[in-house]
Amino acid sequence: HTIQAFRAALLHSIADPAEVGPTASYEYFEDGLLVIENGLIKAIGHAADLLPSLADNTPITTYPDALITPGFVDTHIHYPQTGMIASYGEQLLDWLNNYTFVEEQKFSDKNHADTVAKLFLTELLRNGTTTALVFGTVHPESIDAFFEVANDKHLRMIAGKVMMDRNAPDALLDTPQSSYQDSKALIQRWHGKNRLHYAVTPRFAPTSSEEQLTLAGQLLHEFPDLYLHTHLSENKQEIEWVKALFPEREGYLDVYDHYGLLGKRSVFAHGVHLCESECQRLADTQSSLAFCPTSNLFLGSGLFDLSKMEQYKVNVGLGTDVGAGTSFSMLQTLNEAYKVMQLQQKKLSPFKSLYLATLGGAKALNLDAYIGTLHPGTEADFVVLDYHATPLMQYRMAQATTLEERLFVLMTLGDDRAVKATYILGEVSHQR
Ligand code: GUN
Ligand code: FE
Repeated sequence: HTIQAFRAALLHSIADPAEVGPTASYEYFEDGLLVIENGLIKAIGHAADLLPSLADNTPITTYPDALITPGFVDTHIHYPQTGMIASYGEQLLDWLNNYTFVEEQKFSDKNHADTVAKLFLTELLRNGTTTALVFGTVHPESIDAFFEVANDKHLRMIAGKVMMDRNAPDALLDTPQSSYQDSKALIQRWHGKNRLHYAVTPRFAPTSSEEQLTLAGQLLHEFPDLYLHTHLSENKQEIEWVKALFPEREGYLDVYDHYGLLGKRSVFAHGVHLCESECQRLADTQSSLAFCPTSNLFLGSGLFDLSKMEQYKVNVGLGTDVGAGTSFSMLQTLNEAYKVMQLQQKKLSPFKSLYLATLGGAKALNLDAYIGTLHPGTEADFVVLDYHATPLMQYRMAQATTLEERLFVLMTLGDDRAVKATYILGEVSHQR
């Protein structure tokens, strides 16, 4: 039974600004107090209101010139691509063949997987990301390695073994039966253990046979609360390829729909080139999209239309998509998201950005009862963001008077240097 408190400016999203407007979308306490008991948030409020109720011996950590927000939620990332981030010169399909399918073969070696899993999770925490939806490789060992490290760090994480049985090098192929059996064994070993969840992870339609997609759907029926994680409508050549491989389906999303892969725990990365009926179908099935701006720009995939998804009420989270994405930082990912909207003559407000990186991601992952806000009763995964992380930020912040302005500067100039500390269940797990 341990109680501790943090005194700082506190900010969290409480609703989507697209639904309630910017001012009703957040709660802010300029001189706030966050009270933690046994890893959960016990109270949040103005320091002046809450301090009198604390026992005299309660430890209080004070962070001046900083902002506490919920930990960031990255709704799409590949841990095995850590070592190939920033690979030059290709768009999606050549990038997969020339770089990705080479790098992922290294994960047949459990020792290699262990090393990269450690580096990857350390990097997430350095950047203030406390929960992520994560691709492994085709090798089940890649997921054992990932979950072992995530479990040691007490993280809430979702991951799955890639299912792929065609259109890739032989060394990276499974079969419908082996992918089913290997996924099932991983589900039984890890799904629901402490804070871990399993995602059935067919890579994307072109690398799975119809038989494999059928078995992916079967896994979702056999076990409760599994996630479905894949890629959708990222690149125009990819979309043409899917049409050629599945001529009997109406389009890319309909391939996944046909095998029962849509639903409220289904997350589709990208969705850059979706038609109106696909947006409607995603909304009707409560499926989610991961908006991956740095990846979409780096691979030249296209511009994600966030305002269209707001119109259709499709759940959207933010994803770094490392290693096609170019940064582990969700702040830098928001910086690029803003520019993607600018290129479409649209605005991305700082409060919508905060929502995407926290509560919106938690909702996309159906985890908003546990993470994504600072509401009492939820898990104390939070970050301390340093307004004075660099001399430039300190100088610029001196001119930023409103919360909205300060938040925007933080998101535009901030990166891992702006993450002063990351807390998991109330315990510090990264500190600068
Ligand atoms: N589509 C299929 N596989 C991948 C991948 O690894 N990265 C990205 N960005 N898109 C994909
Ligand atoms: Fe991806």
